[in-house]
Amino acid sequence: MKRAFVIGHPIAHSRSPLIHNYWLKSYGIESSYEPIDVTPQDLPAFFDRVKAGEFAGGNVTIPHKQMAFAMSDELDPLAEVIGAVNTLVVQGGGVYGTNTDYAGFLGNLDAATPGWSDKLDEVIVLGAGGACRAVLVALKSREVGKIHLLNRTVSKAEDLALDLEGRIEVGSLKDFANRAPGAKLVVNTSAVGMKGTAFEDLPLDKLPKDAIVTDIVYVPLVTPLLADANKLGLRTVDGLGMLLHQAVPGFEAWFGKKPEVTPELRQLVEASL
Ligand code: ATR
Repeated sequence: MKRAFVIGHPIAHSRSPLIHNYWLKSYGIESSYEPIDVTPQDLPAFFDRVKAGEFAGGNVTIPHKQMAFAMSDELDPLAEVIGAVNTLVVQGGGVYGTNTDYAGFLGNLDAATPGWSDKLDEVIVLGAGGACRAVLVALKSREVGKIHLLNRTVSKAEDLALDLEGRIEVGSLKDFANRAPGAKLVVNTSAVGMKGTAFEDLPLDKLPKDAIVTDIVYVPLVTPLLADANKLGLRTVDGLGMLLHQAVPGFEAWFGKKPEVTPELRQLVEASL
């Protein structure tokens, strides 16, 4: 019987056990996936347990994503660019660190809006925090023409654009109106939308009629941004799918079966929000 984990501090809120245990049960795999509260102070000792072979691997969430990056024996090149690790796989006596957020972002859009990245010229990305890097790396992997990176604090977007090469044009949220007419995709990676917050004055009506708007925030499931886009008849993709799809590569690596993101799984997780 294999064991996998999700570590964080706190950890009780994590939906990952619900997702992985649903798959273990669906596929009749006799293994476990357990939430473990690990404080930053206890992280090195936990890594020792992982290296000693107690687990097949696991997920890493806040506040350990950067530390886990530093402590991994080997890194996926994309995790290296993202600068954070959310999935660990034990192999050959070492710990391989990867980041499945970018695959989750792509998997969600691929499932919800097939063909979304075909000849995708301009994209607007809102926010420049930790979650943004994985989205930028994902978009770059699809050969997007130009990314408009708009953030409340422009200097943070500038730092990020310098760090990640490519055609990234930085601006403030006020530049949305000017950048919108060519953008076929808008991605919110910022915290706006959580806890009753909303963007002030983001003129979505300036977007092309066939634009897609997606949010990585999934509580609430329909953020004010998505609600406004829906009202205008734009296509929208919520953030819950990213959470579900980011879990796929880890499960496959630990348990040897590529799991499916089913409507039933989505309903189960949605009901828990
Ligand atoms: P991290 O993910 O690195 O912890 P964060 O502080 O949680 O970062 O912020 C995530 C993103 O949400 C940032 O882009 C932040 O904008 P700033 O760089 O200007 O701080 C953005 N953000 C959070 N609250 C916001 C708000 N009320 N209006 C606009 N942007 C906001």
